[in-house]
Amino acid sequence: MIRGRASPSLARDALTTCTQRERTREAWALYERTVQDPARTVALLRRLHGARPRVLGEDFAGTAALSRAWVERVAGGRAFAVDLDAEALAFAPDPRVECRADDVRSAAVADLGPCDVVQAGNFSLGELHTRADLEAWARMAHARLAPHGIAVVDTYGGESAWRLGVLERRRAEEGGEELRWTWEQRSADPLTGEVVDALSFRVLRAGEVVVDLPDAFVYRWRLWSVPELVDVLRAAGFVRTEVHVNLPDANGAARACSDGAALHGGCVALVVGRV
Ligand SMILES: C[S@@+](CC[C@H](N)C(=O)[O-])C[C@H]1O[C@@H](n2cnc3c(N)ncnc32)[C@H](O)[C@@H]1O
Repeated sequence: MIRGRASPSLARDALTTCTQRERTREAWALYERTVQDPARTVALLRRLHGARPRVLGEDFAGTAALSRAWVERVAGGRAFAVDLDAEALAFAPDPRVECRADDVRSAAVADLGPCDVVQAGNFSLGELHTRADLEAWARMAHARLAPHGIAVVDTYGGESAWRLGVLERRRAEEGGEELRWTWEQRSADPLTGEVVDALSFRVLRAGEVVVDLPDAFVYRWRLWSVPELVDVLRAAGFVRTEVHVNLPDANGAARACSDGAALHGGCVALVVGRV
């Protein structure tokens, strides 16, 4: 089984013959190694909650990497991971994580049990394109929360949010591999709020490309603004909301912001709703 950082890379020859399923699994493994930093996200969610949260509801969970990190780090912790994609949820099973292949707005999700934190990370609420769908998610998140529970969502904003272009990152790994990944904003329409973003991966060994996954993930999202997310959480019954700016990406430390200056440049903002 391919597990997070331990994932073996596919050799170039293998790549030419590998199946779509193998490419998908490699893409998930590289996503976990590059885009996500679940240990830091767990620490951030615990800090935002402020007491001793035990149960996480990870919505739009993908491979449930955050849920796995949660049960690893929180004593007596449990996690519910919900995603439409049953295969992604089954990528790296952990008996302490209960996975549900379903729509995050489905009534069945409420039966999973009360959560201390419900999280929708890495801009996942962009998967919901209408205000009605967003409100349905927020009402469900509210209904699932235990007393003192929080919902945590994120979005990107600021003046660069509608800019097209490519961000490239590289990281040298122990063992000589180099990971390269690009995040491309391909289209962005401020009139409709629709954006198309693509994530591509490359792995090099001794300078040679051994894994090449262009457009490993292509997202067609509605880019929700910070005030829209605040409004929706309030409308769903959250009594308090806060905005935290989180630079340079969604997994780092956050600081609460009380005026818009912090959101002017390119930023990742977290919106927290408290029941
Ligand atoms: C950007 S990925 C998020 C992965 C992960 N949460 C993270 O932090 O990186 C978005 C995920 O949302 C799932 N998804 C999209 N619409 C959904 C819905 N209505 N209900 C449940 N999952 C959904 C997709 O299958 C995909 O795995």
